[in-house]
Amino acid sequence: TNETLILQEVEGRVAILTLNRPKALNALNDALMDELSAALAKFDGDDNIGAIIITGSEKAFAAGADIGAMASWSYMDVYKSEYITRNWDPIARVRKPIIAAVSGYALGGGCELAMMCDFIIAADSAKFGQPEIKLGIIPGAGGTQRLPRAVGKSKAMDMVLTGRMMNAEEAERSGLVSRVVPADQLLAQAKEAATVIASMSLPSVIMAKESVNRAWESSLREGVLFERRAFHSLFATEDQKEGMTAFVEKRSPEFKHR
Ligand code: HXC
Repeated sequence: TNETLILQEVEGRVAILTLNRPKALNALNDALMDELSAALAKFDGDDNIGAIIITGSEKAFAAGADIGAMASWSYMDVYKSEYITRNWDPIARVRKPIIAAVSGYALGGGCELAMMCDFIIAADSAKFGQPEIKLGIIPGAGGTQRLPRAVGKSKAMDMVLTGRMMNAEEAERSGLVSRVVPADQLLAQAKEAATVIASMSLPSVIMAKESVNRAWESSLREGVLFERRAFHSLFATEDQKEGMTAFVEKRSPEFKHR
């Protein structure tokens, strides 16, 4: 089919990508994931974009990988052809900030996609879960690794082993999401946050993202060293001069993103 599975919109320096398979609750098939990773790569390389939002519908961010498509796959399909798993590394390599704006179901691969974003803003209707265990599989896009880092071992084990869902309130309490907002304000609040981020100097934003990610991927000593080097290097940017001069002159900075 020629369906457009990812709707793309640009507002100022913010790109908004909307998952668009409403009849399947945005189940993630390879066609959708191909479109998503292509759109992310495009906006990542676009100097006019400073932040990206990924969102779904009111009912579902994404209800997981497409179970109908997966049902008949063999080991060689998923191993050799990397069905459904091949598009995930490119998403994790995006350098610009990505906000997940989650309303309704974020299950399985949907929850994993949300966790791959830099932070999650949830509608009060949001429901998160890793129900793969009920299908005789386990999470395959980082769920068993990112969920414990986000919410701790006990809650992650509970979620992954029972397949139960977590509502927005529990998700915020557990540190999975950064904010919970009324469902009808979800996109507006995500755009506001993305607009703030996109107004900052892009080199500092990218280094901030890289540095926070180091907190997950390295020891404290290595992470602090990485941060220090990144911090030092930002004194080579024009925007650092502009940001600090603007403060001293009591005016707003005009960042040139270099
Ligand atoms: C394919 C899906 C789907 C999915 C929903 N649909 N989830 N199709 N894959 N993951 C389809 C349904 O078949 C149905 O199609 C339509 O969307 C509406 O769904 P309903 O079930 O009728 O809606 P509702 O009763 O409201 O229940 C919502 C729900 C349920 C609780 C979210 O749909 C559900 O449990 N979905 C599966 C969730 C899941 O197991 N996700 C993990 C997948 S494994 P029709 O044609 O009947 O209208 C996974 C592995 C990731 O994600 C691996 C790494 C990438």
